[in-house]
Amino acid sequence: MSDTFRAFVVNQVDGQYAGAFKQLSVSDLPDEKVLVDIAYSSLNYKDGLAVLGRGRGVVRNFPMVCGIDLAGTVAESKDPRFKTGDKVLALGGGLSETLWGGYSARQRINPDLLVKIPQGLTETQVMAIGTAGYTAMVSIMFLEDEGVTPDKGEIIVPGAAGGVGSVAVAILAKLGYRVVASTGRPEAHDYLKSLGAAEVLARADLDKQAKPLEPARWAGGVDSVGGRTLATVLAQTKPQGVITCCGLAGGNELPATVMPFILRGVKLLGVNYFEIPAGWRETAWKRLVSDLDRAKLDSMTEIEPLSDIQALAEKILRGKTRGRVVIDVNK
Ligand SMILES: NC(=O)c1ccc[n+]([C@@H]2O[C@H](COP(=O)([O-])OP(=O)(O)OC[C@H]3O[C@@H](n4cnc5c(N)ncnc54)[C@H](OP(=O)(O)O)[C@@H]3O)[C@@H](O)[C@H]2O)c1
Repeated sequence: MSDTFRAFVVNQVDGQYAGAFKQLSVSDLPDEKVLVDIAYSSLNYKDGLAVLGRGRGVVRNFPMVCGIDLAGTVAESKDPRFKTGDKVLALGGGLSETLWGGYSARQRINPDLLVKIPQGLTETQVMAIGTAGYTAMVSIMFLEDEGVTPDKGEIIVPGAAGGVGSVAVAILAKLGYRVVASTGRPEAHDYLKSLGAAEVLARADLDKQAKPLEPARWAGGVDSVGGRTLATVLAQTKPQGVITCCGLAGGNELPATVMPFILRGVKLLGVNYFEIPAGWRETAWKRLVSDLDRAKLDSMTEIEPLSDIQALAEKILRGKTRGRVVIDVNK
């Protein structure tokens, strides 16, 4: 391996945010205990914000190597949990925010953030899952924890053609739920049916000014859109129904009323994939091995070169990427 390697780095100079490819050497990397040769990263909505400097402050230390996810091989380890040659992954935990991340051919990582790649999954597949897919799994675990079983009724997934949405549809369908997908893309209807959606709604059916209470339909929901969409979903949720909320692809406001909560006992559960009960990280990865159909995962994934990262970031922020995008950091 050559002494230097390529990384995508953002910097802020005189209030101007800019990203560029830099050649780094191992001595430039942070002083963490495990050096990883990275094969793949992924593209999440948050990566779009970090790469282009949009949103409010994803990146909090500069200069910053972007990329909230990474998968690769341990090159050196000063931590007893990992040895040279281990295949590992990391999802977030401060990567691309305060810690250097995965848009680099090599990185030194805090071992607390590393997980050995579960047997049955490849480096590409764990990045196809990435933070978005893992969050879909965690959201479903929250629904299950609240007693939302397939016999309770239909599950709504807004933003279904996106990363969180696509993985949620595929897992819920495999678990036997009747999944109703909502998308702003008419051309994605066949795709969503192929992932297991029983029915597909147009985005406009949910992204509207809803009444405080509407006819009750959903036993549960996995929302990554927020805004008016989430408010409508809440107004349409059945008594004792549970909706998880992890994202803001459609806006960070919640123009809802208290009526679904006080009259129907609806529950709204906030999801931060990193703030989960003890033991859930291991369980979530086991569940992703058993409950996410690999052929469906492959069908929702495209692999793109790191060299295109700025265009890809624009694309995900405009809601134009379908499913999940894996980033080949060596291309
Ligand atoms: N809290 C957490 O732990 C956590 C973890 C992961 C992700 N997230 C958040 O979850 C959200 C989704 O992330 P992602 O990586 O899945 O992004 P993504 O792949 O871009 O998916 C978002 C989807 O939302 C839909 N959408 C976009 N703009 C919309 C609008 N104006 N109105 C309604 N729907 C819209 C689109 O789906 P359609 O075209 O199908 O409508 C889009 O594909 C982001 O806000 C992200 O930050 C949070």
